[in-house]
Amino acid sequence: MIHDNNHNRYSLYKSRIERQLSRLIERKTPVCVYEPIDYVLKAGGKRVRAVLTLLSCEAVGGTQRRALPAACAIEILHNFTLVHDDVMDNSPLRRGRATVHTKWDTNVAILSGDELVAYAYQSLLKTKSSSFLALMTSFTNAFIEVCEGQGFDKEYERRSDVTLDEYLLMIEKKTARVISAACELGAIAGNGTRREIQALRTFGEAIGMAFQIQDDVLDITATEQELGKPIGGDVMEGKKTYLLLRALQRATPSQRTVLERVVHKHNIHKRMVQQVLHIYEETGALDDARYRVIDYTSVAQNALKQLQFGKSVAMLRWLSQRLLERNS
Ligand code: IPE
Ligand code: IPE
Ligand code: MG
Ligand code: MG
Ligand code: MG
Repeated sequence: MIHDNNHNRYSLYKSRIERQLSRLIERKTPVCVYEPIDYVLKAGGKRVRAVLTLLSCEAVGGTQRRALPAACAIEILHNFTLVHDDVMDNSPLRRGRATVHTKWDTNVAILSGDELVAYAYQSLLKTKSSSFLALMTSFTNAFIEVCEGQGFDKEYERRSDVTLDEYLLMIEKKTARVISAACELGAIAGNGTRREIQALRTFGEAIGMAFQIQDDVLDITATEQELGKPIGGDVMEGKKTYLLLRALQRATPSQRTVLERVVHKHNIHKRMVQQVLHIYEETGALDDARYRVIDYTSVAQNALKQLQFGKSVAMLRWLSQRLLERNS
């Protein structure tokens, strides 16, 4: 029953965000910028980050309305990262549809991505808060760090000696930082105390780490239909994922021969994806990744103990659990 309530509430928050997103951008020309922007923002997606902003605001006693512009800002920033990420990762599919650079071209993806960032700031500017500077700072830092994280991700494709610690720093920047900023922005907009803001930031940071490790797992274990993204893309692109780095530590010589091809991004074929999945299973890398996701989620849930606004905090907890069990 509680589960159902949370589910309905999530849908409600999601539609509020989508309604606001559709109001934010009214211009239609140049078509080569506004068509892809419209296409991206209407493609769905879980809207997790935006929902986190709204819930974090409520979790410190604020009203949802105060956090709505910041929630949309973080969601738009996230969508910008996806448009550019798909170019960088040569990814043809996102949310079950052709990616922007595939449907249009790379120049369109660059430009519409850039403009999304500007609209993200425009939305953030609509926030009414005495802590406006803190909001801007948090948002800007997340923007800087996601770009750094994506930079590491790219550099690691060409490196064969990436360590697990380096990987953790990379995902902290490319994924966890935007998610923790989503929570932090909500807490700031809701006038949370320093302690509350810090607790929500820690919560977001930990679910963000879990989120990316889970994303790595789903990239090779889910179905394209569920995920809306191609399966095995990380293997094909020589991505230094948690799974790959962990499996390398435990591989037998013959398993290592296969993994080394992924590491060096050399001679990779689509049919290797299944073989690599098998190695991830056999070496225990897959189980290990799943444990890490559970671990980070419990760190996140512990951070929530510092907060007192029952219903919203319970929902944050529910959401962290739901992300753990997600398959899309
Ligand atoms: C995908 O994010 C990119 C990562 C940081 C792993 P989501 O899985 O939240 O994508 P959407 O917005 O729901 O499509
Ligand atoms: C995405 O990481 C991180 C971003 C900042 C967008 P991935 O490259 O693994 O995300 P997906 O799997 O394409 O969504
Ligand atoms: Mg990527
Ligand atoms: Mg990608
Ligand atoms: Mg991925």
